[in-house]
Amino acid sequence: MKEVLLLEKSRHVPAEEILRQWDFIRLMREENDARIASGRLPLVACTRTFGCQQNENDTERINGMLEQMGFDFTDSPESADLVLFNTCAIRDHAEQKVYGTVGALAPLKKTAPDKIIALCGCMVQQPAVARTIRSKYRHVDLLFGPHALHRFPENLYRVYTKRGCVIDNEPSDGMIAEDLPIRREDKTRAWVTIMSGCNNFCTYCIVPHVRGRERSRDPKAVLREVKELIEAGYRDITLLGQNVNSYCNDLEIDYDFSDLLREIDALDGDFTVRFMTSHPKDASEKLIDTIAAGRHLSHHIHLPVQSGSDRILNLMNRRYTREDYLKLIRYAKERISDVVFTSDIIVGFPTETEEDFEDTLALVREVEYDGLYTFIYSPRKGTPAAEMEQIPDEVKGNRYRRLCDLQSELSLQANQRLVGTVQTVLVTGINEKDPSLCDGRTDGNKLVHFPGNYPAGTTLSVRIDRAFNWGMLGSVSEA
Ligand code: 5AD
Ligand code: SF4
Repeated sequence: MKEVLLLEKSRHVPAEEILRQWDFIRLMREENDARIASGRLPLVACTRTFGCQQNENDTERINGMLEQMGFDFTDSPESADLVLFNTCAIRDHAEQKVYGTVGALAPLKKTAPDKIIALCGCMVQQPAVARTIRSKYRHVDLLFGPHALHRFPENLYRVYTKRGCVIDNEPSDGMIAEDLPIRREDKTRAWVTIMSGCNNFCTYCIVPHVRGRERSRDPKAVLREVKELIEAGYRDITLLGQNVNSYCNDLEIDYDFSDLLREIDALDGDFTVRFMTSHPKDASEKLIDTIAAGRHLSHHIHLPVQSGSDRILNLMNRRYTREDYLKLIRYAKERISDVVFTSDIIVGFPTETEEDFEDTLALVREVEYDGLYTFIYSPRKGTPAAEMEQIPDEVKGNRYRRLCDLQSELSLQANQRLVGTVQTVLVTGINEKDPSLCDGRTDGNKLVHFPGNYPAGTTLSVRIDRAFNWGMLGSVSEA
C-alpha cells in the first residue's frame, strides 16, 4: 500500500469520545444485567430501516451498540421495549411511510408508556421535520440525525434515566466514527461504508443537506474491515458511499478509489467486491481498467445517469453530458465483455419535456441496462429544483410507466441472453415462498432460483433454464 499521510485527526470523532460512549454502553449493560439478576428478561429492541444501504449499514451499527448493551432483538414493535426507526428523506413517499408507521405506534405507547420510541436518520436531521415530530408525534422519546449516530449510547441512556424527549440533530459537516461495534444482518453479504456525505449538490437531492460533506475513511481502516470480513467467511462485500469515485478526494493523499479496489483485490480468499454508488462525472477509464483486471471485482456497475437529456442533466447540476456518459459505457463494454449495467433514473424533473424524456428512453435503449431503479421526481424543501417549474403528476406518472415498460422488456432480453449458459451463483438462502428452491445471485447481482437445499454462502455452477424480467430459473450443474 502506498504511504498514507497521517489523516487529519479533526475529521474523526476523537478516541476519548468513543471511549466515553463505551462507558454508556457499559451503564446500559449493567441495567440489563441487573434485570437478569432479578429474574427479569433483558430489554428487547425492534429496529427497522427505511431507505438506502447506507442506512442499513447504520442500523447494523446501532444494533451492534444495542447488542453490547445486552439487548435482545425482535421483529415485533408490540413485544419490544425499544422501537427504533432509521428514516429516509430522499422522497416524500419515504417520509410519508415513516409518519404512517410512527403514527401507528401511538396507541401502543398509551398502553405501554415505558416503551421507548426512537427515530433517527436523514428525516430527523431536517429541523422542520424534527419540529413536526415533536409537535404531532408526542409519543416519540428520542430523535437523532446521522451525525449523532456515535452518540446513541449516551442519548439512549439519557432517555432511560431522565425521561422526556431527547433530541440530537445539530447541523454538522459530519465526522468519521471508527471502533463502534456492529451486528451484521447477513452472514454471507456485508456492507462496508468507505465514505459518508456528498459534495455534489444535485439540485433535486436532499442528501448533501442532511449527511454533510464528503469524508473518506482511512484506507487502512477500510482494508482492515474488509480483511476481517473475508476471514469471517463473508463472500460478497459491497463498498458504500454516496459517490465512491471521489473516495479520498477530501484527503491530502495520493490515493483514489481504484487504488482501494486494487488493494482489496490483492487480498486472498473466496469473495466478490461490489460498490455503490458511482457518480458518472468521477467514474474514470482507470476504474474500468481496474475492474477488468480484477480477480474479485464484480462486473456489475451501478452508474446512475438520472436523465438522458443534456438540458435536464445541466439543470440537475450533474456535470456530465449524455455523450460523456455513453463514452464511458462504450469503453466498459469493450473492456469487460460480460459487464452488467444498472442505473437510477428520475422522471418528471421540473420542466422536463416530452423530447427530454424521449432522450432518456433512447439512452436506456442504447445502454441496454440489465436493470433500473426508476423514480418519480419528488420536490424536497430547501433544494433548488423544488423552486423550479413543476410538471403535472399525470405526465410524471405516464412517463414513469413508459420507462418501466421499456426496462421490463430490456431486463427480460438481458436475462434471455443468459439462458443455456452456466453462471457462478452465490447462494443467499432458501426461497421464502417455495422452500424447495434456493435463492442466489450471479456475479452481475441477478436473482436466480434453483431447486435444492444449499447453505447460504455456497458457490455453485448453475445452468440458466428460463428468463423473466425479474430474474432467472436454473438448475445446479455442479456443486
Ligand atoms: N426525487 C426523486 N428521486 C430522487 N433521487 C434522489 N433525490 C430524488 C428526488 N428528490 C433518486 C436519484 C438517486 C436515488 C438514490 O434516488 O435517482 O440516485
Ligand atoms: Fe444526491 Fe447527487 Fe449526492 Fe447522489 S451525488 S447523494 S444524487 S447530491
